[in-house]
Amino acid sequence: MATAIITGANRGLGLEMAKQYAANGWHVIGTAREPENATELQAIDNVKVMQLDAADDASVKSFAQQLGGQPIDLFINNAGIFGPSEFDRQCDRPCQTGKRLEE
Ligand SMILES: NC(=O)c1ccc[n+]([C@@H]2O[C@H](COP(=O)([O-])OP(=O)(O)OC[C@H]3O[C@@H](n4cnc5c(N)ncnc54)[C@H](OP(=O)(O)O)[C@@H]3O)[C@@H](O)[C@H]2O)c1
Repeated sequence: MATAIITGANRGLGLEMAKQYAANGWHVIGTAREPENATELQAIDNVKVMQLDAADDASVKSFAQQLGGQPIDLFINNAGIFGPSEFDRQCDRPCQTGKRLEE
């Protein structure tokens, strides 16, 4: 059985990819910053949930150590945040997506 790692798999595109790869016979290692809260991911057959915060060096190192020498066939580094929207880029003050920050 081929193994895929999907980071940021507890919601959004990562969760959907985890569902689809698992449904297609892959063993999926889905990562989440808070595995205990990744209930939808935990509920998928053929998915092992592991902790990973991609912005935390200690977490990345710990994740790699836990993987050990396990062969990985596919790595989907999905975790992240979507950058500023067109609205944000045009804003003349610090903004959040969809609204201005009030000073
Ligand atoms: N949706 C789009 O239209 C679109 C377009 C272009 C690119 N993308 C990219 O595709 C990826 C997924 O998009 P999405 O719409 O599914 O986003 P999303 O729903 O916001 O989900 C983002 C995922 O990344 C995780 N994450 C964020 N920062 C992390 C970190 N430091 N370490 C580990 N996990 C982290 C989140 O975990 P938490 O739940 O813990 O926050 C969540 O699981 C993102 O990288 C995004 O930039 C999306």
